[in-house]
Amino acid sequence: MEKTLPLAVEHNTPKAQPYLLLRRVLTVVPLVALIFYVNWTHFNTAIKPTFTNNGGQHETSKSPCHQPAPLFPATDNDALNLMWEHVASESFRNASIVRHSGAIKIDTSSYDDLGPIGEDKRWEAIKPFHDYLADTFPRIHEDLKVEKVNTYGLLYTWQGSDEKLKPLVLMAHQDVVPVPASTVDAWTHPPFSGHYDGRYIWGRGSSDCKNQLIAEMETLELLLAADFKPKRTIIMSFGFDEEISGRQGAGHLSKFLIDRYGEDSIAAIVDEGAGFSEQWGQVFALPGVAEKGYTDVSIIVRYPGGHSSIPTDHTSIGIASEIISKIESVRYPTYIADESPMLGLMQCGAEHAPTFPKRLKKLLGKHSAPKTCKAKPDELALELAKSGGAVRYLMQTSQAVDVITGGVKVNALPERTQVTVNHRINIGDTPETVHHHLTKLVKPIAEKYNLTLHAFDGKTKEAPLSISLFASATTLKVAPITPTDTKDVTPYSILAGTTRAVYGEGVVVAPGMMTGNTDTRYYWPITKHIFRYGPGYDPADGGGLGNIHTVDEKISVVNHIGMVKWFTLFLRNMDVAELE
Ligand SMILES: *[C@@H]1O[C@H](CO)[C@@H](O)[C@H](O)[C@H]1NC(C)=O
Ligand SMILES: *[C@@H]1O[C@H](CO)[C@@H](O)[C@H](O)[C@H]1NC(C)=O
Repeated sequence: MEKTLPLAVEHNTPKAQPYLLLRRVLTVVPLVALIFYVNWTHFNTAIKPTFTNNGGQHETSKSPCHQPAPLFPATDNDALNLMWEHVASESFRNASIVRHSGAIKIDTSSYDDLGPIGEDKRWEAIKPFHDYLADTFPRIHEDLKVEKVNTYGLLYTWQGSDEKLKPLVLMAHQDVVPVPASTVDAWTHPPFSGHYDGRYIWGRGSSDCKNQLIAEMETLELLLAADFKPKRTIIMSFGFDEEISGRQGAGHLSKFLIDRYGEDSIAAIVDEGAGFSEQWGQVFALPGVAEKGYTDVSIIVRYPGGHSSIPTDHTSIGIASEIISKIESVRYPTYIADESPMLGLMQCGAEHAPTFPKRLKKLLGKHSAPKTCKAKPDELALELAKSGGAVRYLMQTSQAVDVITGGVKVNALPERTQVTVNHRINIGDTPETVHHHLTKLVKPIAEKYNLTLHAFDGKTKEAPLSISLFASATTLKVAPITPTDTKDVTPYSILAGTTRAVYGEGVVVAPGMMTGNTDTRYYWPITKHIFRYGPGYDPADGGGLGNIHTVDEKISVVNHIGMVKWFTLFLRNMDVAELE
């Protein structure tokens, strides 16, 4: 995924933070393991779905963070029971290691400067990955409809028997971020080795996110072998350029699916995303139900050139510097909007976490979100933000001046200086919030230097003696928030019940939030129920993102097998769920 943190999961941060930063609460591990074991044994006695019959349960109505009971599908066939045992077996584990390791060995790096498909040869690296999937998952390729969209997008359709049920979509991306040549030596095991060390599988893509792609494929292959007959159509949709914003892959796949099924036609989507985290003495599963927005803004200063021996008092670089200083002197407000999943998460913390701070609980009780930026400070958000940037930026629009170019020669005054500022937009703000804010900051500087201001006015030609502000084409609103009701049977309640079935009732499922974007950005029209969720968990690792986008990316096999278990149950639970 585009580098993103679910909730303060900075495992490698050496500084201790008072709360919210993951703390490895060792006592939780045996607890989880125990519950895990109990449920597992429990499973073989075939438990009926518990959701459909418990509407109106009084706990549900009182609790703002009601936790659905572990949810198991009714077992309608022995092969499905045996399949569950098989997933937990050593032979499955061994074969799974080989499958995932093999996927890592195929380098499917996405590069920022890739040219068009068909022209730039580097895209062709994805072809061997397709061949690998076809060899590794023969049943899927024999029994399901396999389509290639925009050459490398992979779409698998397992037609369900009931056309009235909305299909379920599983996503993942085939590409990985490149490994810079200068960092290859820093890897403990070579980045495309897929090395297995007895506990972890190593390599680029091992946790972002070939693990999820392989787990989804393994799940379907297992269900086919167990003669599962879905009522609800199951679709897998795999893009191939997520790491460079997904336009060729997910951009085309989503359009293809919308053309085929229509808008609001899909029951739910599960894509890569947030996972598990330990905080306030509690293990949380944090499916991403919200995503911050995005906008890059370029600011271009045009100012007269000339010989530097007789300079003007200021140059375009100097004026741009003044703008940058001004930008950095003002932060966006830290606040939690009414619709932000941060509130739901805090309610879950207050209700279930043993060491949830009293002060937060008190502030949560009287929290009301400010309606505008000028409203009084949001005490709850500010208190929570004390635990560091990773948490603060779940409640604040971020800004970072990341790129600057200006000047060509040491004896010539620079005629043009360009600055690009990256923003991730808080829930409650919009791209316009950012654009207005910048316009307001730059206007007095333009006046001071007698420059014409063109701020987001659609003019693409830069005039001499001007300051122009442009928003990038990648500008994105905050994603629609996925509903998280558990009062009725909803995709979220099924996801939560499945998670507690696999990992035990020691795990609390709470709404998670993403600071970055996944391929799901293209799928908003097709369903309200989008989950950015990596359902694999290894209690010994305490969650975390497995060094994505950096050296020594790896995944524990326990985590991977947990993910396969989760998908096998989730698909079966969704198949019998009576939604809406
Ligand atoms: C799994 O792999 C290990 C290590 O290679 C081996 O010792 C064990 O016998 C294998 N188990 C099965 C059931 O294949
Ligand atoms: C500002 O620029 C305009 C032309 O763009 C010029 O006519 C005017 O004299 C300038 N004013 C000052 C104070 O430099």
